[in-house]
Amino acid sequence: MIYFDNGATSFPKPAGMAEVMEECITQYCGNPGRSGHKMSLRTGEEVYRARRKVAELFNIQDAQRVVFTKNTTEALNLGIHGFLKKGDHVVTTSMEHNSVLRPLKAMERHGVQHTIVMADKEGCVSPDMIEKATRSNTAMIIMTAASNICGSKMPLKEVGDMAARSGRIFFVDAAQGAGVMDLDVRKLNIDMMAFPGHKGLLGPMGTGALYVRPGIELAPIMEGGTGTESRSRSQPCVFPEGYEAGTINAPAIIGLGYSAGFVYKVGPEVIGRYEEDLICRLEEKIRNMKGVSVYGPAPGKKTGISLININGISAEEVTTMLSETYGIAVRGGYHCAGLAHKTIGTWDKGAVRISAGLYNTKKEIDFLCDALWSIKKSLC
Ligand code: ALA
Repeated sequence: MIYFDNGATSFPKPAGMAEVMEECITQYCGNPGRSGHKMSLRTGEEVYRARRKVAELFNIQDAQRVVFTKNTTEALNLGIHGFLKKGDHVVTTSMEHNSVLRPLKAMERHGVQHTIVMADKEGCVSPDMIEKATRSNTAMIIMTAASNICGSKMPLKEVGDMAARSGRIFFVDAAQGAGVMDLDVRKLNIDMMAFPGHKGLLGPMGTGALYVRPGIELAPIMEGGTGTESRSRSQPCVFPEGYEAGTINAPAIIGLGYSAGFVYKVGPEVIGRYEEDLICRLEEKIRNMKGVSVYGPAPGKKTGISLININGISAEEVTTMLSETYGIAVRGGYHCAGLAHKTIGTWDKGAVRISAGLYNTKKEIDFLCDALWSIKKSLC
């Protein structure tokens, strides 16, 4: 299979990661932080190493402020539900994933209001409009680093600076940005950031994390065993274990530590540029193809994602044909971001998302172009 669905999860993974996970499972996997025996201690040390590797990637000084979660959605829910309180207002954008918009909708029941700033037809957002949408009670600005449907990159620097000037929390959903963009939390004034382990960081599924800047207090959204203060009936609000109640997925987190180290060595910006170049090559060929619609900004303003439709055939059918006839994996239909589809004009039909990864090649892009051309021709 030629894999162009890296926006959903990356494939393949860096050589050596599976072996590190296997070594953990077969050689030493005790429950970290729960006992003083050698296996528990070794697992705890390896998990801590993974936390440091992940922190290093984003210039996070205190690795203990990285809370491991099972995915970005859990991290976003923890940040949103754990931080906001009655009377707060939030500014967000129309390009957000449901994992931002649905928790914000749910928070209305708890007296938290939000304003959605509309992006333009290409999925780009103006930082001035974000500033204009703030109110005296705006506690948080939350936005994606890049759209998961069309790849449009968001003005993180401008919004981060503005949030810092006005004393508001800047919360970034880095589901599509982590591992392919420079997301230095200090340079960008990011206060909280949710990110997946299994996408751009090339780690295993079932991993994600929330970074919370020192000084920010958060209420846990799940109570239970932390391996600490066991005689207390109250959840200890201590980073990270107070927010990681229950046994964590240590083998996967250790795998993530390995892959994050790999991404650090190659360089997120190098990886991002490589993926963008591949998409640029694709779009140079298909932007002028009659009967093909390409959405979102031109390459340069977006990540390695291309969103298209072939007129006269549904996105789902194109996806099935690419898979069945050509052995190519893409994602078709809607992409858990209804408002973003409305913004860029694919509300009624969805679209085919092609998301490149580090292991894709120019040859694969050319093969994909030929396949799209053949599908289009078959409709005439
Ligand atoms: N949120 C992931 C995507 O955009 C699964 O495909």
